[in-house]
Amino acid sequence: MAPVWTALEVLMGVLIPYVTASLIDEGLMAGNLDAVWKYGAIMVAIAAVSLFFGIMSGRESARSSAGFAMNLREAMYARIQTFSFADIDSFSTSGLVTRMTTDVANLQNAFQMLLRISVRAPLNVLAGMFMSFFINLRLSLVFVAAMVFLSVALYFIVSRSMRVFAELMRKYDDLNNVVREGVAGIRVIKSFVREKHESLKFKAAVDVIYRLNVAAETIINFNQPVMNIVTYASMIALSWFGAHFIVDGTLTTGQLTSLFTYQMQILSSLMMLSMIFVMLTQSVASAKRIAEVLDREPSMKEIPGAIGEVPDGSIEFRNVSFSYAEGGNPALEGVSLSIRPGERIGLIGGTGSGKSTLVNLISRLYDVSGGAVLVGGHDVRDYTFDAIRSAVGVVLQKNTLFSGTVLENLRWGDPDATEQQCREACRLAAADFVDELPQGLQTIVDQGGANLSGGQRQRLCIARALLRHPKVLVLDDSTSAVDTATDARIRETFATRIPDTTLLIISQRILSIKDADRIVVMDDGHVSGVGTHEQLLESNSIYKDIFEMQTSGGEADFDQP
Ligand SMILES: Nc1ncnc2c1ncn2[C@@H]1O[C@H](COP(=O)(O)OP(=O)(O)OP(=O)(O)O)[C@@H](O)[C@H]1O
Ligand SMILES: [Mg+2]
Repeated sequence: MAPVWTALEVLMGVLIPYVTASLIDEGLMAGNLDAVWKYGAIMVAIAAVSLFFGIMSGRESARSSAGFAMNLREAMYARIQTFSFADIDSFSTSGLVTRMTTDVANLQNAFQMLLRISVRAPLNVLAGMFMSFFINLRLSLVFVAAMVFLSVALYFIVSRSMRVFAELMRKYDDLNNVVREGVAGIRVIKSFVREKHESLKFKAAVDVIYRLNVAAETIINFNQPVMNIVTYASMIALSWFGAHFIVDGTLTTGQLTSLFTYQMQILSSLMMLSMIFVMLTQSVASAKRIAEVLDREPSMKEIPGAIGEVPDGSIEFRNVSFSYAEGGNPALEGVSLSIRPGERIGLIGGTGSGKSTLVNLISRLYDVSGGAVLVGGHDVRDYTFDAIRSAVGVVLQKNTLFSGTVLENLRWGDPDATEQQCREACRLAAADFVDELPQGLQTIVDQGGANLSGGQRQRLCIARALLRHPKVLVLDDSTSAVDTATDARIRETFATRIPDTTLLIISQRILSIKDADRIVVMDDGHVSGVGTHEQLLESNSIYKDIFEMQTSGGEADFDQP
């Protein structure tokens, strides 16, 4: 409705100068007071109606552009929720945040302007031209000349500034990056005393934007002088020819007055049109970035008729290979491994050897590039996401708590869990500290769990995963920040309390995995050895090296019991 209301408003606005002409000619010039009253009243009425249309068009365009932004954000958010880890990797988290906030705001502004001006300005020009032709055809040629000159000038101004604006948007991306890194990493920056260096980096990014902004605005500011030249030139032309026509008797004073008004109306509308071109250029970059998110097909989908229940906790890797980027370096190659339900597996290996990658394939956080991963006897791709992810509980290496209470965080694992069950899960995960927190389970967790220690966060994440009662539980380095005694206690409780759950424990500490049924040694994306602690000490040189390194005298963990 916004364009319709706007069109009506423009129509009313265009009528006023025409009535003014009659008021001057029939009223003022003829000394007829009745006519003055009559036309005066008509003008007031038109103005009032036009005001009403104006209010309606303002309201509707605000509503529709705000609604447009809301729809965009909702659509993007819904789309992002369908993304796999691989999709998120390809956009980067901060990139997605910028797209959902700044880029949408850009588009919303442009859309609102477009709604209001793209109807108003051309209509104003057309209606103004029509009325002027109607009043005096010959004199209106002045407008045509003015418009041609103005259009040519505007074309040069807009095309130059478009290029600068496109560059400017790219630099805004760079600035966002610097800000994000600088703010998110402030602790690291401070501990390395890199403030000065970071400030310089920031200044460089801001400087570029400053210069581009000045350049763009300088070009845009040519609008004003060009506009002035055209306005005054056509005013002089209008006055000159108009005076002649009045003397000839082919034009009245009132008509000349209204022509002046139409002239201003036409020229200022052209000016607005040029501004909207500039704004649109600025938003094209944002629109593209938003479309990229909306158009992205999630790389991982459920098959039709997917299985809804995982029968048991057995896991099998069949000649699995995987790389994060298509055609990139393989993070896993030729991995074959078979795990019985309820078996306890330890995973160890150098950093970057592919441990996290391997376990992330079990709950289908990524899809294999070659081979297959089977859980409970079926390919993980044959299950619904819900089935496979409820059956496989994962405590990720980069675990996350959400802002809210401790209880709310625990209930991510099971929305229906009672407080009693939550306490029980905490006890299993050696997270008894929750009882000592000032408000117990109701204690507020800050964003990212900032008000908890690293070890406390890890144990809460384990408790959260336990509440799902998974058939397979994966702990990816989840006790790295927990002291060895507590770590041992957690493993003991697991062995007695959830003996049927298949357990995969990744650790850098031999001590954490040495009692596992079997230990898998990873090396550079390959399985280098599988066996018990004793077997591996005999047969696997990597394992033996790690063991000797961690047990030889002073290099052991200081808190080792
Ligand atoms: N999201 C990702 N995108 C691209 N490459 C990745 C990604 N995650 C890991 N890699 C790469 O895959 C390889 C294996 O990484 P992975 O995280 O599995 O190692 P890891 O054994 O868990 O190491 P750590 O003990 O340090 O946790 C590494 O070379 C790493 O650079
Ligand atoms: Mg890892």
